[in-house]
Amino acid sequence: MTHPAPTAPTAPAPFAHEDAADWYRGAVIYQVYPRSFADSDGDGIGDLAGIRARLPHLRDLGVDAVWISPFYASPQADAGYDVSDYRKVDPVFGDAADAEGLVRDAHELGLRVIFDIVPNHCSEEHEWFQRALAEGPGSASRALFHFHEGRGEAGELPPNDWESIFGGPAWTRVEGGEWYLHLFAPQQPDLNWDNPVVREEFRSVLRFWLDLGVDGFRVDVAHGLVKAPGLPDIGRTGQFGLLGNAPMPFFDQDGVHEIYRDWRRVLEEYPGERVLVAEAWTPTIERSACYVRPDEMHQAFNFTYLATDWDACALREVVDTTLEAMRRVGAPATWVLSNHDVTRHTTRLGNPPGSGTQMVTPGDPVLGLRRARAATLLMLGLPGSAYLYQGEELGLPDVTDLPDEVRADPSFHRAAGQEGFRDGCRVPIPWSGTSQPYGFGPREGDPSWLPQPDAWRELSVEAQTGVAGSTLELYRSALDVRREQPSLGAGDEVEWLDAPDGVLALVRRGEDGAPVVVTTNLTSEEVRLPLPGGLLLASAELAVDGDEAVLPADTTAWWLG
Ligand code: GLC
Repeated sequence: MTHPAPTAPTAPAPFAHEDAADWYRGAVIYQVYPRSFADSDGDGIGDLAGIRARLPHLRDLGVDAVWISPFYASPQADAGYDVSDYRKVDPVFGDAADAEGLVRDAHELGLRVIFDIVPNHCSEEHEWFQRALAEGPGSASRALFHFHEGRGEAGELPPNDWESIFGGPAWTRVEGGEWYLHLFAPQQPDLNWDNPVVREEFRSVLRFWLDLGVDGFRVDVAHGLVKAPGLPDIGRTGQFGLLGNAPMPFFDQDGVHEIYRDWRRVLEEYPGERVLVAEAWTPTIERSACYVRPDEMHQAFNFTYLATDWDACALREVVDTTLEAMRRVGAPATWVLSNHDVTRHTTRLGNPPGSGTQMVTPGDPVLGLRRARAATLLMLGLPGSAYLYQGEELGLPDVTDLPDEVRADPSFHRAAGQEGFRDGCRVPIPWSGTSQPYGFGPREGDPSWLPQPDAWRELSVEAQTGVAGSTLELYRSALDVRREQPSLGAGDEVEWLDAPDGVLALVRRGEDGAPVVVTTNLTSEEVRLPLPGGLLLASAELAVDGDEAVLPADTTAWWLG
């Protein structure tokens, strides 16, 4: 494969990489979804210059690092998760200088930067795939993908019974008769990781961005790269959730681990602690822990936690299981409540339990926000690293009533209702002002690629700044307190205290600093608890009555023990 000669960074990005090995263990990492964060040129789509200009917001919020979803060259069939050139910035988002400037500015503000890498599949417009189409069956370029003859007398049936995560068959037939595999949209052909050329190419892509100074990578569909030999049938049809319990011949195959051991060695060629974060939807937390063994990745997203209902027993169990599984491999636990693929937790928690992670109903927005704030303080009180998704610090709900014609998510268009509602969490962020696009674009009246609800005027960064009790100020205070109280976030265990049904009470201890008690009332009634100590922060107003704390429904409080 030929590439334009990579342009060498003009100067190493200024950041003391050497300073803090283990920086990621308790880090709060903020996900930026570039299309929807900030638009510097008024075309309605966010871009790298927009992110750069808004970095001070992230510094003021108090996060440690920023993970940026893909901005590489892409026809945008899956909002950039369909990459046509892994070393190039898509003109929609800017250019190489913007990427370099972004890393530099972030480092100057003390923020680390994690890029997204998409190794399971590329775009149909990637030059490899174009060549594979042109060169036909038996060519070396076809061997970079999974091209196979079909079944049936004339090969008219797909090679096996796998279905795309986005709906429909996971195979598409091309001229000449062969079929190619795509676990996602047909525009996203799966790469063949049995082919050493694919492996070498990705080592080179990692080095390309590491040379620019990035602090790590979030690895897209990390569980999907290796397929079971012979691509066996599953034996049933129908959609399955990403968190399905049954092993699948295309997910979480043991062979993926050798790839990450290899990548770890690449990262270790660089100074400082560069990290790999697995987006691995596995059936159990124990399986996720396999991705973060000492010679593999550094962190894996905890989707089981994200998918857990607002229920004290269920949450306690997932916290314990997570800590136990991660302790065994020496990796930090991670916690997450929202991202660009699921309904925002403000909306999820206002819907009935068991509604899943992708929903169309707004539920009870007042209850949802109240619980979301409590859920966030509980999460930020746990040991390990936490991921925040842009806009959750504003308490944004999912936009559940987007008209079908503006929806861009390929899963919406391919699936009959399942896994199909990801646009609702991708609506551009309101920053300021009283009319659309609320500071997302440079001028009033500029477009935004998805329309923002009028009510978001009240939710902008400007509208919430300095307002006591606003969700933004709650997040800012929470991250402040987390920095001042090193017990929060530290270590790998919690100590549970006795608490009434439906209430969680836990103590956090670190090597430095006083113990902090975290109490969450998940019931719909107020509860009284023995006063755990001095109040540090609470997700809602609460009262102290003599030696008792009166914790209202759906509230978390942090106490200095
Ligand atoms: C990951 C991404 C998601 C994308 C999919 C295919 O799950 O988070 O947005 O659609 O991979 O790349």
